[in-house]
Amino acid sequence: MSRGRFITIEGPEGSGKSTHSRLLCEFLRGSGHKVLHTREPGGTRLGEAIRQVLLDKKNKNMSDGCELFLFLAARAQVVSEVIMPALKKGYIVVCDRFHDATVAYQGYGAGLDLKLIDSAGKLATGGLKPDLTILLDVETSAGLKRGGIKDRMEVKPVRFHKKVRDGYFKIAKKEPRRIKVINTGGVPIAAVQDKIRRAVSHVVQ
Ligand SMILES: Nc1ncnc2c1ncn2[C@@H]1O[C@H](COP(=O)(O)OP(=O)(O)O)[C@@H](O)[C@H]1O
Ligand SMILES: [Mg+2]
Repeated sequence: MSRGRFITIEGPEGSGKSTHSRLLCEFLRGSGHKVLHTREPGGTRLGEAIRQVLLDKKNKNMSDGCELFLFLAARAQVVSEVIMPALKKGYIVVCDRFHDATVAYQGYGAGLDLKLIDSAGKLATGGLKPDLTILLDVETSAGLKRGGIKDRMEVKPVRFHKKVRDGYFKIAKKEPRRIKVINTGGVPIAAVQDKIRRAVSHVVQ
């Protein structure tokens, strides 16, 4: 039975995840691969409903615990409904954010217990781990300046976003084989995409 490949795109706000996950999928499809592009939170009807709640600025009083469970709930659904079935069919699945985002945002950013996030995270992912994670990095203020209308996560204080970025570095340091860090600050989109494709070529035949 052929098993697909699971690639996640991570990074702080404005680092280029949406842009590059889309470009990567177009490239892989053009090369003849079966590709599934999904995003977190979201990717399923249920997950997109949870995404609305999470990103709605009207919910600015949301507790850190509530936030954690909503992200995990959306993940549990997209893993079982979309990602696992596609991997079993041999698809390359490209996911904009996954478990590392929860460690970076709710763990390093909000200060929730990292061990608890790890075990609750395993429940949400069913133990699924990416074959490759592209960590797109951009300096915090430059990233926050990119893009348009800000959602509930993006309007959190700059010091929160700095902790998230540092958190991502710590995660990458722990798993250098899985996680490839690529700087996008002041680098043209095409040059970043080239580096991503090179990294992906090592896990996709
Ligand atoms: N390397 C880059 N240089 C300049 N602008 C970029 C670069 N990468 C992305 N952008 C722009 O920054 C904005 C945010 O990018 P996006 O892909 O939505 O980031 P994310 O999904 O990580 O928040 C978009 O307008 C995008 O075109
Ligand atoms: Mg995005």
